[in-house]
Amino acid sequence: MNSAMIKGTGYYVPKNVVTNEDLSKLMDTNSEWIIERTGIKERRWIDNDDESTSSMALEASKNAITDAGIDKSEIDFIIFATLSPDYYFPGPGVTLQKELDIDTIGALDVRNQCSGFLYALSIADQYIKTGMYNNILVVGSEYHSGGLDKTTRGRGVSVIFGDGAGAAIVSKSPDKNRGILSTHLHSQGEHAEELALIGPSTRRWVPEIIDNEGKDDQSIYPYMNGTFVFKQAVTRFPQVIGEALQQNNLQTTDIDLLIPHQANLRISQFVQRSMKLTDDQVFNNIQKYGNTTAASIPIALAEAKLEGRVKEGDLICLAAFGSGFTWASALIRW
Ligand code: ACO
Repeated sequence: MNSAMIKGTGYYVPKNVVTNEDLSKLMDTNSEWIIERTGIKERRWIDNDDESTSSMALEASKNAITDAGIDKSEIDFIIFATLSPDYYFPGPGVTLQKELDIDTIGALDVRNQCSGFLYALSIADQYIKTGMYNNILVVGSEYHSGGLDKTTRGRGVSVIFGDGAGAAIVSKSPDKNRGILSTHLHSQGEHAEELALIGPSTRRWVPEIIDNEGKDDQSIYPYMNGTFVFKQAVTRFPQVIGEALQQNNLQTTDIDLLIPHQANLRISQFVQRSMKLTDDQVFNNIQKYGNTTAASIPIALAEAKLEGRVKEGDLICLAAFGSGFTWASALIRW
């Protein structure tokens, strides 16, 4: 059995910076409230028609390909995680495949929201382990800003989310002791509606929305039961990280860097405290980008690597929790 490693990482965020002060001009909010509750100071929001979920994914992918030192022709599969694809159908994998202009390789779409990148990484891990593929492009990209309720009515959700993309090249490891040690995936569909976008769907078709309440229909905006999500997240993160450590006979003190899904700084800090991790052991960049859902872990991983916080031999733990609910972890000997 092969071992799979992350050979290259890359990210891309739109140029347009939206500060908390900018938001306070759109809705009744203020920077103190947002920073105290979420840690977010600014986020990137697409402000032009040229950018999309796919175009951001393309830029992140190019950076990951360069970082991996391979040619794009060496990629033999794409796995794309997002909750905000360019189109209702077809999925985002094929739009990225077209933009990358890489032959006719397979492209798979993953719909697991904040845990999407880890679900995708887990699939890539299995394909590499079995020898089916050699280099897999795993991408998370989200274009949230176009679909948020940017009025006071939507402030509890819209201040949290940002746009961006992150990518990784997952390849066969030359050393069996290096690479992805294990992945752990969970879900609990009974809470599907606690963090969801119900509106444009086969339960609520677009023509039906237009015919009824139109713009006033709340179901066209994301809904989040914030307090419930918070409580579940701070329980599931430590559980799934603990599961990964236990499977590999490792302790929290062995972790060189935990990169949690950037849901909310308060959630990450709660997890850090409850697991007795030091500041050096946890990476956060939500302050700059907000919550970018499936993109948050690959963006953070790429940035942590650029900052020299991910080095060969390090034990890296990735963990996520989000809509579904879904939660997941991956333990990697870098
Ligand atoms: N600015 C100012 N006031 C606001 C804002 C805002 N942006 N949003 C809500 N408020 C108001 C509310 O209207 C409410 O006012 P009221 O008391 O007059 O009714 C008051 O602030 C408190 O609202 P709550 O919703 O109770 O605020 P809470 O302290 O619970 O914080 C938050 C909300 C930040 C969402 C919190 O529940 C939380 O941290 N939840 C975790 C969920 C999360 O972060 N999810 C991230 C995305 S999901 C994921 O990735 C897993």
